[in-house]
Amino acid sequence: MSDPPAKRLFIKSYGCQMNVYDSERMAEVLRPLGYALTDRPEGADLVVLNTCHIREKAAEKVYSELGRLKEMRAEKAEAGQGRMGVVVAGCVAQAEGEEIIRRAPVVDLVVGPQAYHKLPELIARASRQMGERLAADFTPEEKFDALPKAREAGGVSAFLTVQEGCDKFCTFCVVPYTRGGEYSRPADAIEAEARGLVAQGVRELTLLGQNVNAYGGKDEGSSGGLAALVRRLARIEGLERIRYTTSHPREMDEALIAAHAEVPQLMPYLHLPVQSGSDRILRAMNRGHTIEDYRKLIDKIRAARSDIALSCDFIVGFPGETDADFEATLSLMRDVGYASAFAFKYSRRPGTPAASMAGQVDESVKEQRLARLLELLEQQQRAFNAAQVGRTVDVLFERPGRHEGQILGRSPFLQAVHVQGPQTLIGQVAPVKIGAAAMNSLTGELVASELARVLA
Ligand code: 5AD
Ligand code: SF4
Repeated sequence: MSDPPAKRLFIKSYGCQMNVYDSERMAEVLRPLGYALTDRPEGADLVVLNTCHIREKAAEKVYSELGRLKEMRAEKAEAGQGRMGVVVAGCVAQAEGEEIIRRAPVVDLVVGPQAYHKLPELIARASRQMGERLAADFTPEEKFDALPKAREAGGVSAFLTVQEGCDKFCTFCVVPYTRGGEYSRPADAIEAEARGLVAQGVRELTLLGQNVNAYGGKDEGSSGGLAALVRRLARIEGLERIRYTTSHPREMDEALIAAHAEVPQLMPYLHLPVQSGSDRILRAMNRGHTIEDYRKLIDKIRAARSDIALSCDFIVGFPGETDADFEATLSLMRDVGYASAFAFKYSRRPGTPAASMAGQVDESVKEQRLARLLELLEQQQRAFNAAQVGRTVDVLFERPGRHEGQILGRSPFLQAVHVQGPQTLIGQVAPVKIGAAAMNSLTGELVASELARVLA
């Protein structure tokens, strides 16, 4: 008897890399049910939207996507191709589950981030009973134990979630409500997953967590925080590069800074959001540190690893932000110098303390500030990239480029690097002499004398 035809599964991830990781896990958990991934929603048998609630725009995208899915579902049914199931997962599901069910009848199932291991069962149930909603009343521990660890082979670089949730309660942020409190996975489970990934050809791991540098599991193997975990993973043969994201300045301890100086696999790139350059605003945001603390921290990190590239998140137009506060943010940026960064207009999120603060800033002011900040960022990013020209940097090659004979990799500083070179270099680190730099990528040439050694 031949196998039944695979059911087509389309998953769309919004927002952060943790959602990307979760989407991969969802695909794994649904595979035994006969679902195979497809890259288009049209004609899919099951569509999962893995949503983000961090800013209003991100959340609203879900509803417009659901509108499109409603049409696609009708077309599929009309063509006699069966029913398209629609699942909303992620943080919007967690925060607004009931509203989704009410506003979007196309949705069959709403599932929060802690309940993905229950997806097969839920989908079976939802196909019998439309519009079932499940709240995420599972513990993260249960989720990680139950989700498949391994994934389909292929990638050179992979994400690995080591920590979830947040206890920091920044006054603008929904994460402590949508993802719950801080939870760290046991180091043994992380190491086992990492070894599995490396055995499949992964050479670079990015350890993920909403507050990844607050990592510290309750079991013995997880004590010592993120620094100990990084050192442990660095012992895995074949794992060339380790990164982690996202960090909080308050959790950047001495041990982690020392790891940047001492662990060669730990890449010299750090995403360390500060959000604002004004002490007054930091206080209102409940960030728990001052600008002075942050500047000193950056000095310490640079003393440990002088070439480290810094990345950041900034919010403009937080309630009460004056022109002077905003100028302080620009001046901090000029002093620190970032390799890249993300900047957002403050978005009022229902239920968070900042949403009801006095002094909400006009949209037009937010826009002007964002434009000025982005202009400075672009200058800094270009300057950072241009500084690589003429240098030789190690590149981990990840995949073929768009042009004939081209391969694409990343520098230690996460810059995309294009070269002409053999596909056999994919999955390997080779030195590249950088010839030109643009806003978002570098191009260069393989160093011929080194190439023979790498390919040997
Ligand atoms: N408005 C704008 N930006 C926000 N972020 C989080 N919440 C909000 C909000 N309400 C930004 C922060 C955070 C990043 C992930 O998203 O800069 O670091
Ligand atoms: Fe949100 Fe602040 Fe927690 Fe980051 S540290 S997830 S910004 S509450």
